[in-house]
Amino acid sequence: MKIIPVASGKGGVGKTTLALNLALALSRRYKTVLIDLDAGTSSLRNFLEMKINQDIYHFLKKDVPIEKCLVPLDRSLDPEQQFAGFRMIASPKNFISEIVNLDGPLKMKLARGINQLQADYVIMDIKAGLDSHVLEFLPINNTGILIFTPQMKAAISTAVELVRAILLRVCRICLSQKASRMTFRDILREKDFQVLNSLIDRLEDSYNRRIKNFDDFFLEVEKRFPYSVIISQLKQFITRFRVYFVLNQFNGVEESAENIIKPFMEKLNQMVSSDIMITNLGWVIFDEEIRRSSEDGLPYLVMQQYRREPEMSAEDRLDAKLRELVGLDTQKHEPIQKISEPAMTNNEVTYQLDILHRMYARGASKDPEANFDFIVARLQALKSSSIHRFGMQRIFSSMEIRRAFYS
Ligand SMILES: Nc1ncnc2c1ncn2[C@@H]1O[C@H](COP(=O)(O)OP(=O)(O)O)[C@@H](O)[C@H]1O
Ligand SMILES: [Mg+2]
Repeated sequence: MKIIPVASGKGGVGKTTLALNLALALSRRYKTVLIDLDAGTSSLRNFLEMKINQDIYHFLKKDVPIEKCLVPLDRSLDPEQQFAGFRMIASPKNFISEIVNLDGPLKMKLARGINQLQADYVIMDIKAGLDSHVLEFLPINNTGILIFTPQMKAAISTAVELVRAILLRVCRICLSQKASRMTFRDILREKDFQVLNSLIDRLEDSYNRRIKNFDDFFLEVEKRFPYSVIISQLKQFITRFRVYFVLNQFNGVEESAENIIKPFMEKLNQMVSSDIMITNLGWVIFDEEIRRSSEDGLPYLVMQQYRREPEMSAEDRLDAKLRELVGLDTQKHEPIQKISEPAMTNNEVTYQLDILHRMYARGASKDPEANFDFIVARLQALKSSSIHRFGMQRIFSSMEIRRAFYS
């Protein structure tokens, strides 16, 4: 199972649109569960015109097993079962304070429930914000999707804050007082953890000019504890963090590079670390029908699926006729091409631009459906790549993170 959160820190950038359509695109071939973790405003329910009887509330508060809260697409929306692999867990339709502000035990219950799901992919629609409800459901290493849109530049800073917050959380967990009792084979002593935590405080305090980012932090820490194995492991972990992102309302390679990729990279270097890498997973163009689909309660991909026939151009109709004549499948399937990763270069921006150009050249720019299929193909390729291993296997609790780190 691969768990993939879709997050941005900001609202209105297209998280729900991407999470929903990506889950649908995946569900044509894989068992996919979409989890609505935006309990505050549950836009997902507005995106889907169908009745939902069991949701997260029933799982968390009424002890209904999580499998019973998995809802397929309504038959009226998907009469031919084209998205048979699709299930979702919705948030409550109306505001329920306890569900919006999950306490510790409920958060743990939710994480355990998600970990138990039987699916190939779990896509999580994460709400905006940077609080613990967001952070605890995000991966501690390189496995989630951040989404941007050039129409909202403020999303870049929030995304950088999100990355910083994820990494600060890992540092805190791994250097907590509890961890100090696990490190008997390291040179660090219990009192050293107090020093380390005060350095984390200084790193977190963005007004502190001496420790601006993790590079500064590790410089200070290594000065004090040059021979600690734990510290060098933590440093390796932080500097190998990789950010995956999708560009929404994409408007061309050059514009995205200028408006998003370059400023994002610069801010990451400045606020997080100069070692952080970013990887583009694809884009979604602006499309009036995508916008309308959220109002009509019919997901974009479902709408496309059931109106393909009458939409055919004269040329496509002729093509279909010819295909029928010679006994071929009447629908043309564009082969999803595998994109080989170019050799790593030190210049991340050039590397990202190169990938974008190659994707563009392979026709991922034409229609939103191709865009979603393309992202699916990228996820599949990166899932088995030894560098990336995209997608987390389970949601780890703080204790599990600590244990994994020290074992
Ligand atoms: N690629 C796109 N083309 C056109 N409209 C889009 C696109 N992506 C998102 N939208 C529209 O933008 C609005 C916000 O998208 P939404 O997915 O709800 O964002 P979020 O979940 O981040 O708040 C919605 O009305 C949606 O239909
Ligand atoms: Mg949303």
